[in-house]
Amino acid sequence: MDEILSIRKDFDSKIENVSVLEKIDLIKSEFLGKKGKLTDLFKKIPNLQGEDRKNFALKLNKAKDHINSLIEKKLNELQGKEIQEKLSSERIDISLPGRPIEFGKIHPVTQVIDEVTAIFGEIGFSVAEGPDLETEFNNFTALNTPEHHPARDMHDTFYLTEDKNILLRTHTSPVQIRTMLSGKPPYQIIAPGRTYRCDSDQTHTPMFHQVEGLHIDKDINMGHLKGVLDYFIKKFFNVDKIKMRFRPSHFPFTEPSAEVDIGYEIKDGEIIIGEGNKWLEILGCGMVHPNVLRNCKVNPSLYQGYAFGMGIDRLAMLKYGINDLRSFFESDIRWLSHFGFNPLDIPASYRGFGK
Ligand code: PHE
Repeated sequence: MDEILSIRKDFDSKIENVSVLEKIDLIKSEFLGKKGKLTDLFKKIPNLQGEDRKNFALKLNKAKDHINSLIEKKLNELQGKEIQEKLSSERIDISLPGRPIEFGKIHPVTQVIDEVTAIFGEIGFSVAEGPDLETEFNNFTALNTPEHHPARDMHDTFYLTEDKNILLRTHTSPVQIRTMLSGKPPYQIIAPGRTYRCDSDQTHTPMFHQVEGLHIDKDINMGHLKGVLDYFIKKFFNVDKIKMRFRPSHFPFTEPSAEVDIGYEIKDGEIIIGEGNKWLEILGCGMVHPNVLRNCKVNPSLYQGYAFGMGIDRLAMLKYGINDLRSFFESDIRWLSHFGFNPLDIPASYRGFGK
């Protein structure tokens, strides 16, 4: 039989029976590889003459085209099959219920910051931020607390440089300065964040959290401050009535200054906020001192307003019945899974802000 014809038949039956992609390459090299069956015949061409040579070469090339096109066809066929198989075996049923996932928990401090932000956000406050590392100017001097002022010693400051120019902020009040220096009045912001003082016992940790409030406009007075705090406390503790008292106090950056206590009592081992005759201090506040406004290029005869600073950790302890502040920062996963919050349970007023 014609050599070329038998090679073609041989190839046809082999390619016909291939069912896996990897085999195709083998067959290709068996026929068209360097030592392939058809390739070998090409080597005979130089020994032929005239018409014979022409016809032989023509037939060979036809056979080669035939082989190549069948290989191409088979490749497409098998690749298509593979994709189909993958598609059907990897199909997911999106109507199936999800598998339960073990969620991490939101730390009570984060939760309280979110709650505070949501409450103040609803009455027009936006959030401002400042760095933990502050300049002595922003933390003290601009806040009307010059060098040798006794208030500086009371803060147990962590200084980071020998010249005392850089420090860990001892309160969030420097964010007042940053806010005023970086924009024009009016200002209505809260600034939650970390603060640092060299102090540690059951109710003090060297790092703790405060939220600062600042509202400066043309006719802001102490009445607005009282109204806003009253609104906040009621919302935050989810109570209709709140006993609150303003005690005269002193801060270099406010005049007049006050500390605010809220009434509470202990009933059956549980703390009840807003009733009873015990008092708990929760924040410091006052009308921003004209010197502070001047230091921030704000004209005190046109603008004035109030500021306050609240301890966030203390709010969390009160609201969620946690009695050792140090446990907040021990990173104990058992503590967190007990006191932590569901990450999807985002605070909002229609949910009553937390538990
Ligand atoms: N910065 C003060 C403190 O840390 C609190 C405060 C803020 C008081 C704003 C008055 C006005 O104790």
